[in-house]
Amino acid sequence: MAEFRLPQNSRIRKGKHFAAANGSKNVRCFAVYRYDPDSDENPRVDTYDVDMDTCGPMVLDALIKIKNEIDSTLTFRRSCREGICGSCSMNIDGGNTLACTLSIDDVKGNIRIYPLPHMPVIKDLVPDMSNFYAQYASIKPWLQARTPPPPNHERLQSKEDQERIDEPAACILCACCSTACPSYWWNSDRFLGPAVLLAAYRWLVDSRDEATGERLDELEDPFRLYRCHTIMNCTQTCPKGLNPARAIAETKKMLAARRH
Ligand code: SF4
Ligand code: F3S
Ligand code: FES
Repeated sequence: MAEFRLPQNSRIRKGKHFAAANGSKNVRCFAVYRYDPDSDENPRVDTYDVDMDTCGPMVLDALIKIKNEIDSTLTFRRSCREGICGSCSMNIDGGNTLACTLSIDDVKGNIRIYPLPHMPVIKDLVPDMSNFYAQYASIKPWLQARTPPPPNHERLQSKEDQERIDEPAACILCACCSTACPSYWWNSDRFLGPAVLLAAYRWLVDSRDEATGERLDELEDPFRLYRCHTIMNCTQTCPKGLNPARAIAETKKMLAARRH
């Protein structure tokens, strides 16, 4: 088993090593960030040897096995375990992704697992998402229509109109993209970040929504939208294959178009 090394000058210390049971031959090592808010100690990285012959194939399977069988103090979020709820987002092998959809076989060497970057940490792999959710609420992510609905049926859309919202509506709000964006790292108090801007775009292009002008007014701000400098980490990291960078560019075009 390769020894796990922390980067030089890291303030994170090396923690405990949990060795595999004698006789296990098919073992992978998981190096997991640990932080306990109730202790005064700096964060540490604990390493766990996991027997792959008795573990499921995904990184989340290994985390669940560690919690159930090796170290019950390990804390992380998960629910659906199939890429739908967005709660198991974390930084694995240097990239933000979902633990439940990343195969252990796709990671070479020790599997390094940290919380989403540049977020306050509540405990271990659990980031504080309060600011992220407040920003999501700020874009009013619901249909705003002033005209009354047709008396006998729903507000209908054409197939083409529906297709315009298909992709942005597939976002699971995992925050992998926002927490991979350097502009969001430095200005998360005022820049909305790619996930929330994708959600805003979803309502801007919804043919049934009648608040497009107000929605654009809210975004026309040097920080909220224009702190995106087209760095593209967001689109590169999205575990659902979505393109928040394109949605941001389209939103900027909509704002430019209404100025002329
Ligand atoms: Fe997650 Fe992708 Fe939505 Fe960003 S755009 S929150 S990475 S699903
Ligand atoms: Fe950030 Fe994506 Fe823009 S990484 S700067 S939101 S293109
Ligand atoms: Fe729901 Fe991973 S557990 S997305």
